[in-house]
Amino acid sequence: MISRSEFPTDFLTGATWLRVKELEGQQESLLKSVICAFNQLLDLRDLGTGIHSTRLAEWAVRIARKMGLPETDLYQLEVAALLHDIGKIGIPDSILKKEGKLSDEERALMNKHPEYSWSILRLLAGLDKASLYALHHHESYDGSGYPGGLKGTEIPIGSRIVSVIDAYDAMISNRCYRKGLAHQEAVQRLLSSSGTQFDPGVVQAFVEIAEAEVADVFAATGTSPSIAI
Ligand SMILES: [Fe+2]
Repeated sequence: MISRSEFPTDFLTGATWLRVKELEGQQESLLKSVICAFNQLLDLRDLGTGIHSTRLAEWAVRIARKMGLPETDLYQLEVAALLHDIGKIGIPDSILKKEGKLSDEERALMNKHPEYSWSILRLLAGLDKASLYALHHHESYDGSGYPGGLKGTEIPIGSRIVSVIDAYDAMISNRCYRKGLAHQEAVQRLLSSSGTQFDPGVVQAFVEIAEAEVADVFAATGTSPSIAI
């Protein structure tokens, strides 16, 4: 085996080094394009899901910083927030867009979407954590969620964050069959499910920043609370 000391000290300098950096840059920009394309695909498949996920990515990073998560973890969290529902492209329109109550069979199929999201994201190099966060975004803090029935800190922190902001954004968003809740009402509902459905630490962090930052989140994503869909 050749030891490191046998290489010339300038082994990766000059043109070779530049080529390596160029390829790394190309790979990074390709991955970003794929992530944006998938987000766009979600919007085309289920109007509003892509926009909703863009707001989630904005919230996720703000909550993670508030909770003191390492900056190095934020990218995976941001991608998970953007693409946690990408698996919905595998759910038939008759279920995905059904306005009435889903039957047990339809609900079982709908609940497969986190696993579908995981099966897509795990194929993209470097998104291991993001795919895991997506897989567990419908787990409940008390263990009553799916697909794994994980409990408390068994649930990855990224999934616990996505779970809270996913619920908040869904509550304040307008639907064709109902108007979105006011911010304070949505916050009250999060608080009432803190410790059962949601991680109390994540809810606390969200509540502490939500009121001050809600306008910024909507502005950063080019949307407005009054027309949230
Ligand atoms: Fe979901």
